[in-house]
Amino acid sequence: MTKTLIVTGGAGFIGSNFVLMLAEQRPEWNIVNLDALTYAGNLENLTAVEDKEGYTFVHGDITKPLDVERAFDEASKLGGSVSVIHFAAESHVDRSIVSGLPFVETNVCGTQVLLDVSRARGVERFVHVSTDEVYGSLGATGFFTEETPLQPNSPYAASKTASDLMVRAAIETHKFPALITRCSNNYGPYQFPEKLIPLMIANAQEDKPLPIYGDGMNIRDWLYVRDHCEAILRVFEAGKLGDVYNIGGNNEYPNIEIVKRILAGVGKPESLITYVEDRKGHDRRYAIDAQKIKDELGWEPRFTFEEALPLTIAWYQSQDTWLQRVRSGAYREYYAAQYG
Ligand code: NAD
Ligand code: TYD
Repeated sequence: MTKTLIVTGGAGFIGSNFVLMLAEQRPEWNIVNLDALTYAGNLENLTAVEDKEGYTFVHGDITKPLDVERAFDEASKLGGSVSVIHFAAESHVDRSIVSGLPFVETNVCGTQVLLDVSRARGVERFVHVSTDEVYGSLGATGFFTEETPLQPNSPYAASKTASDLMVRAAIETHKFPALITRCSNNYGPYQFPEKLIPLMIANAQEDKPLPIYGDGMNIRDWLYVRDHCEAILRVFEAGKLGDVYNIGGNNEYPNIEIVKRILAGVGKPESLITYVEDRKGHDRRYAIDAQKIKDELGWEPRFTFEEALPLTIAWYQSQDTWLQRVRSGAYREYYAAQYG
């Protein structure tokens, strides 16, 4: 039977990679991309699919019930069973430290609106894309499992935790057909250059300083975005309703090591590294135990950092125009030109 997926946040980093992958791997499925086009949404990522039959873009805000209804109306027109893959979020920790309210609005209230409309419309499945940051911070050892207590530290992580709990409440209260995924730090094409890896590549290319927070020894578990998208598809198709799945890269590196590798890859000197004041409440280490998704759904990351970091650097180098348009803000003109 035909499937129609409402993908929220499909113009963002992971969402656009997911839409592009779906168009390749499940070409018969319909996609309704519901995105508010905040600063992080870039329709230029999706030019390869914008004319594809069964792909529709809905410019709308998940905090507005009428916008979400509009996306469901579009999905109904396309036919088949309707499911939701929910990526839309305010996603940058540093912005949440400056101002938490937009994070509560989109991540908490927006998720609740989406849950309410999805339930009223009888969705088949709902995948809520969350983060390992809900588990808080680790010391030098140990891993986050799906049973690790939720102890978010940043306003971003707290808002994602609240949204996870609203999804859990819908599952428990209404038998709502949802699943939750919690992944580690993603990297790859189309990531907005405010996050560590694309920012450092962009700055290195322009011979600008590379700002390292604190001592540079904070550790993240890096996951190539393509691996993440494949894991989400796997969870969508085969995951057990009501369950949480951790998704990780088995790929821990301190920030300074990442930055040195980027400089080597771009061919720029380490003298560009600049230590700056630490992030407030900076989580020391994240590391995911992804045994459950491996055992139950047979998913494992395919890309190692040694392969995928050079691929990522090469992508940003070959997409200099994309980067320039994002850095200058010119990408925001695309929507008006394309959609009027
Ligand atoms: P992103 O910031 O690149 O993209 C977010 C997208 O959501 C943008 O297209 C934006 O326009 C859209 N959006 C924001 N507010 C909206 C609203 N109110 N209504 C509709 N659309 C709205 O984020 P990303 O890095 O692609 O992350 C996607 C999801 O994955 C998020 O839920 C995030 O919490 C989660 N996640 C990301 C990472 C990572 O490393 N990037 C790691 C773990 C979890
Ligand atoms: P980031 O990409 O913002 O992801 P998150 O905070 O969600 O893990 O940051 C990754 C790591 O890199 C984190 O430890 C903070 C650090 N960092 C810097 O040292 N300098 C920077 O300019 C940025 C953006 C991040």
